[in-house]
Amino acid sequence: MTSYKELGLVNTREMFAKAVAGGYAIPAFNFNTMEQMQAIVQAAVECKSPVIMQVSKGARAYANGTILRYMAQGAVEYAKELGCENPQIVLHLDHGDSFEICKECIDNGFSSVMIDGSHLPYEENIALTKKVVEYAHAHDVTVEAELGVLAGVEDEVSSEVSHYTKPEEVVDFSTRSGCDSLAISIGTSHGAYKFTREQCTVDPQTGKLVPPPLAFDILAEIENQLPGFPIVLHGSSSVPQDEVDTINQFGGKLPDAVGIPEEQLRKASESAVCKINIDSDSRLAMTAAIRKHFAENPGHFDPRQYLKPARENMKKMYVHKIVNVLGSNDKL
Ligand code: G3H
Ligand code: 13P
Ligand code: ZN
Repeated sequence: MTSYKELGLVNTREMFAKAVAGGYAIPAFNFNTMEQMQAIVQAAVECKSPVIMQVSKGARAYANGTILRYMAQGAVEYAKELGCENPQIVLHLDHGDSFEICKECIDNGFSSVMIDGSHLPYEENIALTKKVVEYAHAHDVTVEAELGVLAGVEDEVSSEVSHYTKPEEVVDFSTRSGCDSLAISIGTSHGAYKFTREQCTVDPQTGKLVPPPLAFDILAEIENQLPGFPIVLHGSSSVPQDEVDTINQFGGKLPDAVGIPEEQLRKASESAVCKINIDSDSRLAMTAAIRKHFAENPGHFDPRQYLKPARENMKKMYVHKIVNVLGSNDKL
């Protein structure tokens, strides 16, 4: 048993309370590699931002859960080395799909877990979340639950259509499950293709797709039902068109990739939304930099030559999100 406290990590309780009260959101960046971890820490330290480093089931399969745990411990030490006296870093399990995986993470140094029972019938979602909450709270670990289903693929949980969260269910769900935060569905979805062409309009000037707005009316009603309760948005990458264009210019093929416009995420950050999940934008930033580097330097084969610009591009993206979208800078 390793408590996250021994690793210098924190849970989300105080962080979320401050974010809700302060009208900003904490960035929750997924990581799978050392370069992502370094870029996240550099950005958080430079911006004086709390940060959530999150690990999916896919990340655990790719990089090994133990290695990722030590990387998070390394992240705390690295932040201190970069001059941050009191780093506020959460190690979070993203889309945990069973009690067992949540328990394993809690026992191995995670400070926060998500139990994603969104695909289950309502009562089963409550029962599973409650079981995880009881174990997690006994170890002072915080728990994110999900109500409503996002369109697209959530690890192995898939849905053809988006089922928005029903505001009339949120009080009952959060009270009976005891969760610390609630991921909701208001029109975001995972990946780099969040909307079909049919769901978008086309900007006549640029020919680019303009996605439909998020369901802010549902968010407002949820806030009304649960004043001050921490709300989470998954699937919140913006799919920056300059990165998509770079990828396509240098041999990639990402037609019609489209994300959530940043001004909508900025608006959400000012509400009770206090955690915003971003993974795809990091993948795009990394891939764009590597494709460009290879096209311009065909003779390079030392991974440090192309991973360095990839890391720099990811850091630039993380800083931009923190300062210009989520507003979590200057909070340490
Ligand atoms: O929610 C999905 C995250 O982007 C993680 O994706 O399962 O491919 O690691 P992944
Ligand atoms: P994106 O695919 O929009 O980056 O969402 C990531 C996410 O929600 C991770 O849980
Ligand atoms: Zn997600």
